[in-house]
Amino acid sequence: MRQTLIAGNWKMNMTSAEAENFADELLKLNPKRIGEVLICPPFTALYSLGKKLAGSGIKLGAQNVYTEDSGAYTGEISPAMLEDLGVEYVIIGHSERRQIFKESNEFINKKLLKLQEKGLKPILCIGETLEEREAGKEYDLVKSQLLACLKDANKDKLKDLVIAYEPIWAIGTGKSASAEDAEAMCKFIRQELEKNFGDLAQEIRILYGGSVKPTTINDLMAKENVDGALVGGASLKAADFAKLVAYEVNNDK
Ligand code: PGA
Repeated sequence: MRQTLIAGNWKMNMTSAEAENFADELLKLNPKRIGEVLICPPFTALYSLGKKLAGSGIKLGAQNVYTEDSGAYTGEISPAMLEDLGVEYVIIGHSERRQIFKESNEFINKKLLKLQEKGLKPILCIGETLEEREAGKEYDLVKSQLLACLKDANKDKLKDLVIAYEPIWAIGTGKSASAEDAEAMCKFIRQELEKNFGDLAQEIRILYGGSVKPTTINDLMAKENVDGALVGGASLKAADFAKLVAYEVNNDK
């Protein structure tokens, strides 16, 4: 059995004071949590948010990391710096970093290997553009991203890996993939993981991301191969995030 994971990706939003207010509100709402819950604020809010969430069981993640331990890398953040602030998960390969900051599969692969070496849990994002989907190339594209980013991965640490399937056309657009399309791709990803890593594929969690809302979470979570959600916009309001983490599993699906 895989534990579900609902992860909030705040992107470049929230000062530390705003993060503290969010935490106060969320803790006051005290939603019934079904699985693991994670918030990935900007680096600058990790400390204050971590202090507020201490003891709550809600975990802390980062949105990025650099591939080296320390040194002359102005503006970068190392795995040890994140660990020092209580970070457990790190998002890598987000499409915004691929598109805006030109991060390649090779660079993302280096980050993944570094996180594995340091005992942090990678949330590896993969997903196709609208043009790739319309050309019928989404499965090939997702497979090539997956395999390139997992090159030389340490098999002993793969149970800590989380994959987030995020079709780029669904991110921040309000246009979510249907639960059926999300399941089809998550199932395909698991089959590819199985081909490469055998039974370990059953332990690796696969999330869907892209315009997930309180109104869409139940259908997604009812799908066999969707183990959770990576949520941007709807994770910025405590009331919405509270509804997401308290999703209801609909067994009729
Ligand atoms: P969204 O973002 O929920 O706002 O579409 C998801 C993401 O980019 O992780």
